[in-house]
Formats: sequence, structure tokens, C-alpha cells
Amino acid sequence: MKKQRVIGIFDSGVGGLTVMKEILEQLLDVRIVYFGDTARVPYGNRSREELIRFGEEIVTFLIGQGAEVIVVACNTCSATALPVLRDRFDIPMIGMVEPGARLAVEKTIAGRIGLIATETTVRSKAYSSGVSRALAKGSVPEDKVLREAWQNGEQAIAVVKAQGCPLFVPLIEAGLSNSAEARGIARTYLAPLQASGVDALILGCTHYPFLEEVIQEILGDDVLIIDPALAVVEELRKLLQQMDGGRRLEAVVSAADTVLGKNHWRVRYFVSGDPGLFRQVGNTLIQQPIDLVEQVMPSEC
Ligand code: DGL
Repeated sequence: MKKQRVIGIFDSGVGGLTVMKEILEQLLDVRIVYFGDTARVPYGNRSREELIRFGEEIVTFLIGQGAEVIVVACNTCSATALPVLRDRFDIPMIGMVEPGARLAVEKTIAGRIGLIATETTVRSKAYSSGVSRALAKGSVPEDKVLREAWQNGEQAIAVVKAQGCPLFVPLIEAGLSNSAEARGIARTYLAPLQASGVDALILGCTHYPFLEEVIQEILGDDVLIIDPALAVVEELRKLLQQMDGGRRLEAVVSAADTVLGKNHWRVRYFVSGDPGLFRQVGNTLIQQPIDLVEQVMPSEC
């Protein structure tokens, strides 16, 4: 059987599990080392310098655990630290913003893209640049009417409204994504996006897919929700094909393989904070067993 590639994934906490879940479901022949920096969550208001330092520590740790590819499953790090990390490490890295922006360009039907993200991601304007770059590189909307209007210069395609949602991450990390508080706060955050008439909304923080149902309910079915994780998986699939010379044999891995064993494991979980809380919240959120979570202090990463 072909050797399974090891993918290192990191986030400030449980958010990256939304990306991990997509990867596990769609790419059956990979193994994952997951790191959640729960002692330093949230990342959403951190400076670029801090995020670069955290990123360097974590990528070094993941490489030490055998990672051959890094998925920066954190939009805040992708929007700020990723270019520096790519320069400093000789390992392929996939971030959230470029794939997410490309997916939004492909799926919008009115060209009016909205974004919800952390305040640092919103301030970085990374998604606006990402949308412009995606268009410049040849991505076009799948919708024929919009595509033609855009090509004729009659309709712009852009992020028309970006909203920081700083209370979402602490609520989700506390296991309160399904609470009345989360719903109330979501209504407040989404009101300006509704007023801007967006037709597609990027979930620009990997924690937010855990609120997808609430968000969809508030916005109604006319607004398409874009989860960048779907495009990240496609990018990862292509990268793995290139690494393996264009061919991948898919090994069938059963659900039982997600359990960590001595020599046989599919996912290994590490956190910098409380392993018990991560296990409990993570289990509920992804509805898959997270059995063993090891604690690694940030200074040792
Ligand atoms: N989940 C991360 C993101 O995608 C970080 C959120 C946070 O820690 O504030 O931005």
C-alpha cells in the first residue's frame, strides 16, 4: 500500500477542525497532525508580528511531527503571516484566503460578495486582494449572466462589505455555538451585510462553519454561504498529486483509523491549552471521536 502523506494543520483552537473534517472526508489517503493553539486563542486581534512568531513555532513543531505539507487552517494567520512563513520554511503551505476568494468569485451570481472574519483579517483586506488576484489569474463566475456582464465591464465583482465578528470565536471555543447568545450576536453582526445586499458570504474564519446553520437561517436561502475549506481540499488534492508525480492511489481508511494507536493512526491532536476542553468541545462540534489530545506548551513548540 502507498505511504500516506502527513498533513500538518493548525489553528488557534477548534476552528481548524472544520477544515480537517473536509480533508478527512474527501482525501482518504492522508494522515493529519493537528495543532490547536488553545492557550493563546483568540488570534483575531493579534498583531502580524505575534502571528508570525506563533506560526513559526507551530510549523517547526508540525515538521518535527513528520508533516510534509502545512495547511494554515486559520484565516487570520493566512491573511497576515503566511507569506513570511512560506519564505522561511521549505515545505508546501496552503492557506485559506486564496482558495476562499477564488471560490467566492466562481459562485457569486451578483458579484456582491460579503465577508465575515476576525478583525485582523478584515483589517488586512486580504480577501479583497484575493478576489482581485483570482480575477486577474483567470477565475470567472460560473453564472453565465454575471460572467458576460463582468467581461463587458458592466458589473463589478468585489467584496462589498466586510464585518469583523470578535465574539464568535470565544463563544465557539466555549462550546456555545448552539446558544441563544450566539444567535443574538449573529443577528447583530449580519445586519450590515443584509443591508449591503450581498449575494454570497465568505466564512472568513475557520470557526464560523460551526455557525453555518444559524447564519443561513438569518440570511435566508438567497445568500450563498462560501466555506473556503472546500476549495482548500481541492488545492491540497492537486498538490498531493504533483508531489506524487501525478498519481495517487486512494487507500480505504475506516472511521476506526481516526483513533490514535501506537503505530497506526489517522489523526494526532496537540493543543497548547486544556486537552480535556478541546476534546469535549471538538467531539461535539465535529461529531467524531477525538480520543487522545496531547498538550504541548507553546514555548516547547
Ligand atoms: N479560526 C481562526 C481564523 O480562521 C482564528 C480565529 C481566532 O482565534 O480569533 O481566523
